Amino acid sequence: MKVIHTISEMQQYSKEQHKAGKVVGIVPTMGYLHDGHLSLVDTARANGATVVVVTIFVNPIQFAPNEDFEKYPRDLQRDCALLEAKNVDAVFAPSVKEMYGEEPTCFVVENKLSKGLCAKTRPTHFQGVTTVVAKLFNAVLPDIAVFGQKDAQQARVLKRMVRDLNFPIQLVISPLIREKDGLALSSRNKYLSPEERKNALVLSRSLKEAQETLEKDGMSIPAILDSIKGKIASSGGKVDYVECVDAETLEDVRSRTGKEIMFVLAAYFGNTRLIDNVLFKY
Ligand code: PAJ
Repeated sequence: MKVIHTISEMQQYSKEQHKAGKVVGIVPTMGYLHDGHLSLVDTARANGATVVVVTIFVNPIQFAPNEDFEKYPRDLQRDCALLEAKNVDAVFAPSVKEMYGEEPTCFVVENKLSKGLCAKTRPTHFQGVTTVVAKLFNAVLPDIAVFGQKDAQQARVLKRMVRDLNFPIQLVISPLIREKDGLALSSRNKYLSPEERKNALVLSRSLKEAQETLEKDGMSIPAILDSIKGKIASSGGKVDYVECVDAETLEDVRSRTGKEIMFVLAAYFGNTRLIDNVLFKY
C-alpha cells in the first residue's frame, strides 16, 4: 500500500492508474478509522473501483474555533494497518500546510441543502467540507467517490456539489454501520464515558421506533418528533435537532410522500455531539 503525502505525487499516481485502465475510487475520511469507514472501501469496490484511495485528513476549516479540531483523535499508523489489511491501494494523508499552505481565498459553497439541520449549530461547517472535498477530488482525480449515510446531510450537499460543478465523478452513498447494540459507529464515540455511551443508545432506539410507528401510521410525524425529543431528554441527552426530511431535498416531510425520507437528529451526551438517522420509503 502506497502512503502519499503530497498533492503532486497523488495526482501523478492517479494519472498512472488511469493510463493503466484502472477505475479510481476515493474514500475521504478524517482518520481514526472504524468499521463504518472500512465498509466504504467495500462499497467503492462493489461500484467498480479497481484502485481504492483512502484519504486521511483532519480538515481544520470544517471545525469552528470552539470545536474539537485539536483533540480530534489521530493515529495514522493504526489507520494504515487497518487499510493495508483491507487491501487498499493507496492512502493520501497530506499535512495542513500541503492542503492550505498558500493562504487560500477561494472556497466552495453550497447554498441550499447546507443551510438547515447541522448547519444551525455549525454554520461554517459545510463550506469547510465542500471546499476540502473539492480539493481532495482534484488531488486524487477519482472516478467514483463514496460517502456514508451516517453523515446524511453531508452526503446530499456533496452530491449537489458534484452535480452543480460538473465533477466527472459518480458519488455513491453507503449504508450506515452500527455497533451490535445499535450505536452508530463514529470516531467521536471515543469521547463518551461508559454511562454516556449507554445513554446514547436512545438515539438509534428511538429512530427505529419512529420508523416502526410511522410505518403502521401509529402517530403523526410532529407527534413522533416530539416523542423522540422526549426520549432523548429523559435519557440525559440534550437535543440539538430532530427532523423528518425528504432524503434528497432535505425539505421537511409531514405526511406520506411515496419517496425516501429520513428521521435525522443530533444530540449532546456530555460534551459529545452525536448524529444519527434512519432512511426509509414512506
Ligand atoms: P469522517 O467523519 O472521518 O467520515 C468519513 C466517511 O465515513 C464519511 O463519508 C462518513 O459518512 C463515513 N462514516 C462515518 N461513520 C460511518 C458509519 N457508522 N457508517 C457508514 N459510514 C460512516 O465525514 C468526514 O470524515 C469529513 O467531513 C470528510 C468528508 C472526510 C471531509 O473532511
